[in-house]
Amino acid sequence: MSKLKLGILVSGRGSNMCAIVDACEQGRLDAAVVLVLSNNADSQALSTARDKQIQTLHLSSRTHPDTEKLDAAMLAALREADVELVVLAGFMKKIGPRVLAGYKGRIINIHPSLLPAYGGQGMFGIHVHEAVLDNNEKQTGVTIHLVDADYDQGDILAQQSVLVKQDDAPETLAARVLEVEHRLYTETIQKIIEGSIILP
Ligand code: GRF
Repeated sequence: MSKLKLGILVSGRGSNMCAIVDACEQGRLDAAVVLVLSNNADSQALSTARDKQIQTLHLSSRTHPDTEKLDAAMLAALREADVELVVLAGFMKKIGPRVLAGYKGRIINIHPSLLPAYGGQGMFGIHVHEAVLDNNEKQTGVTIHLVDADYDQGDILAQQSVLVKQDDAPETLAARVLEVEHRLYTETIQKIIEGSIILP
C-alpha cells in the first residue's frame, strides 16, 4: 500500500507533529510527512522538522503581505509537495478560501476539548483548560474534526474524553490532554488511511 502523503501546518512547539512523524517512522502510520509548513519562521516545530530532514516552508504575511497571494502560495506549496491530507497541528491562522477549496474534506484539525464545548474565538491553548476548570467541569477531552470556513465547526471525526481532577491546574490538565492528543491524532489518521473513517 502506498503511503498517504501528509502536509502538517504548525505555528508553535509541534509536539503533535512529532507524534505523527514518530508514528510514521515506527510504522504505526502508513503515511509520510512530505511538508511541514509554518506561519512562524521561529517555531520550534520548523526546526525540529528540519532536523528530521523533512521539507519545511515558512509562509506568512511577512513573506506574502497580500492575503490572497498567501493563500495561493500555500495551495501551490501543498500541491507541489503532492500533499494528500492537510493536518493542522497547533496552526494559529485561518485557512484561506483557496486552500479550503483545493483540499475540501481533506483538512483536519485537533482541538483540546470536547467540541462544540470550549471551541471558537479565543478558545486556544491554555485558555481552553482555564475555561474548563473555571466551569468546574468533571471531564474534558480531545476532538479531531474536518476544517471548514468556520473555526472548530467542521464534522467531528473522533473524540476522546479526559477526566478533570479536583486539584488540576490548567497546566496539569493541558499535559494530560496533550498525551491523549498525540495518540488520538495518530490513530485517527490511520483510521482514515484504512477507510474505517471515511472523509466526505
Ligand atoms: C495542542 O493542544 C492542539 O490541540 C492545539 O494547539 C496545541 C498545539 O500543540 N490546537 P503542539 O504544537 O502540537 O505541541
